[in-house]
Amino acid sequence: MTTPRKTRDHKSFREATKLVHGGSLRSSFDETSEALFLTQGYLYDTMEAAEARFKGDAPGFIYSRYSNPTVSMFEKRMALLEGAEASRATSSGMAAVTAALMGQLKSGDHIVAARALFGSCLYVVEDLLPRFGVASTLVDGTDLDQWRAAMRPNTKTAFLESPTNPTLEIIDIAAVAKIVHERGATLVVDNVFATPLMQHPLKLGADCVVYSATKHIDGQGRTLGGIILASEAFIATHIHNLLRQTGPSLSPFNAWVMLKSLETLPIRVAAETRSAERIAEFLADHPHVSRVIYPGRADHPQAALAKRQMKGGGTLVTFDVKGGKPSAFKFANALSIIGISNNLGDAKSLVTHPATTTHQRLKPEQRAHLGIGDGLVRLSVGLEDVEDLIEDLDQALGALETSKRRAAE
Ligand SMILES: Cc1ncc(COP(=O)(O)O)c(C=O)c1O
Repeated sequence: MTTPRKTRDHKSFREATKLVHGGSLRSSFDETSEALFLTQGYLYDTMEAAEARFKGDAPGFIYSRYSNPTVSMFEKRMALLEGAEASRATSSGMAAVTAALMGQLKSGDHIVAARALFGSCLYVVEDLLPRFGVASTLVDGTDLDQWRAAMRPNTKTAFLESPTNPTLEIIDIAAVAKIVHERGATLVVDNVFATPLMQHPLKLGADCVVYSATKHIDGQGRTLGGIILASEAFIATHIHNLLRQTGPSLSPFNAWVMLKSLETLPIRVAAETRSAERIAEFLADHPHVSRVIYPGRADHPQAALAKRQMKGGGTLVTFDVKGGKPSAFKFANALSIIGISNNLGDAKSLVTHPATTTHQRLKPEQRAHLGIGDGLVRLSVGLEDVEDLIEDLDQALGALETSKRRAAE
């Protein structure tokens, strides 16, 4: 008689092992790679079995708007990585943010959020929630006194992202969590820029973490997705029914792509971070660059906090090209490997000009307040050879030299 193979609690695995094996469900075919269950519904052997499953007396899937085996594997793997008790996947990062906030709020409540938010998140906080009677206050996320002053008796939740987009400011998650908890509110953190590998908001005191899985989690520019991670109680109280009944479900196909991507997430993020560090160093010394912002550098305005809160500087580098918008455009148009895109967290390196794209909706004074100047460029570092990336940046910045010389002639 053969002894069955030992099974281990996936929670006991180290990070990389969790990302390869965590949450796997095997079908009766004993496949090696996780299966893609592209199905809307499920069959029951009998009417009694259907009744039991609907009543919650028997385990099993009911309908893919509620749950699906492939989506469930993705949720379980992400929960293991984040150290969360529970998680729910969504069709996009914005579906995750919207559900995480709306699920907690009702008319008459108040939300406090850091001003430096991704544009669509700002829309949810400033435009959408007030339409449903939820008041909102925006604060400078790095100023703890502003968080304290903004809290009201009816404040139910607070929301921030760190590092922020695009200026890579660091917000002290533990300190903000303490402030909001003292006033009986919760904290939701959008952890996209840090990735689940560089920063663990739940360990720092946040109540809920959200991701656009579209970014590093897919990491290869293919599928949209999002995920909400929190305690069992948070998900049961605020999220479970909202998602089930309103239906921003993640497609099983997208979940499968992301599940397989998680296997390589640590290798990809580590390589991209190493390249980002090198590129930040190169840019800091460049005569056409007036400022480099990278959370892993000693000259970052919050270097000590970044070091305490994050395991590394991450995969994004932001910098100011001297000469404002004309120079930033000329530089980006001269790039030959690095693409122009508002997306980030891709294997392909991408630059964006926030003032004319992601943050175009803001008034000039709002952009100025956030430190988004006309020469500011955000670079998402990909998986290309870093020497090729540096050569590409060098030749594109060199194009500014030529135009300066021509202007002088
Ligand atoms: C910080 C941040 N949060 C949320 C989102 C929204 O994610 P999605 O595009 O998957 O809806 C993005 C997308 O760019 C983002 O950068």
